[in-house]
Amino acid sequence: MDQKFISSEAIQNLLDRASGMGGVGGDDRLQGITRELLEALFRVLAKYEVTDSELWDAIKYFQEGIGEIGLIVPGIGLEHYMDLLNDERDRLAGRDGGTPRTIEGPLYVAGAPLVEGDVNLTSDPDDTENFYMSGQVTGPDGEPVKDVILHVWHANSKGFYSHFDPTGEQTEFNNRRRIKLGDDGRYSFHSKMPSGYSVPPQGATEKLMNALGRHGNRPAHVHFFIEAPGYRTLTTQINFGDDPFAHDDFAFGTREGLLPVPNRQGNSVTVGFDFELQRATAESEEEFSSRTRASV
Ligand SMILES: [Fe+2]
Repeated sequence: MDQKFISSEAIQNLLDRASGMGGVGGDDRLQGITRELLEALFRVLAKYEVTDSELWDAIKYFQEGIGEIGLIVPGIGLEHYMDLLNDERDRLAGRDGGTPRTIEGPLYVAGAPLVEGDVNLTSDPDDTENFYMSGQVTGPDGEPVKDVILHVWHANSKGFYSHFDPTGEQTEFNNRRRIKLGDDGRYSFHSKMPSGYSVPPQGATEKLMNALGRHGNRPAHVHFFIEAPGYRTLTTQINFGDDPFAHDDFAFGTREGLLPVPNRQGNSVTVGFDFELQRATAESEEEFSSRTRASV
């Protein structure tokens, strides 16, 4: 279809009216965003000769797949795009350094036990290797960060997270803890080695990945939030550098600087990893994003 159709007065009028432009009241920025999103969508519908049935099939896909929106968002690269966008905003503001941020994913649960010392994360039996991780949280000048709360969560050896396990086998907060660090910023914990996982079979995310000729696998990984007064809260994860999907993560969560290769010896898998936080320049940077999260 001729793209001049989109520029026609009838379509431009429709876009103005649909986004509330030219009327009284409404939020200017939201009107602008709505108009540009709608115009991009209208263009795609015209360019690809999308039929009524295809449009309604797409709407049905989102109606039925909304429960997996937390997987679809990283799967289509949107969550990683926000990391890249925030990196670029930092670069333009002259802020760099520190451990790279990367996607949170949809499986954090608030309220995990707050513990200290050399911590065991795993409450449930799991017949797999033991995982050991330790290191230090420092600031931009190498100073140990005080009063750190390190939130850590990961899957079990079947690739399932507690609170989201379809087998119902895991107890509350298995492989989830908040660790309160001492003044030296050092942490150490051990657990049962997580496995990588794939999106739920026959679910909305898998349907989309299949249709795009992609897969829905993630390498084995461990998630972190690191918060401390005066520092910017870091959302990140380490992915095991020797995992077959280390460089082919469907969720785009793997990043240079976050792919340590573990030391594997017998039944033990060990990673040493130091985190470097940026200083906060506003109080809001010490908080978490307003994302909806599960809590207990
Ligand atoms: Fe994960």
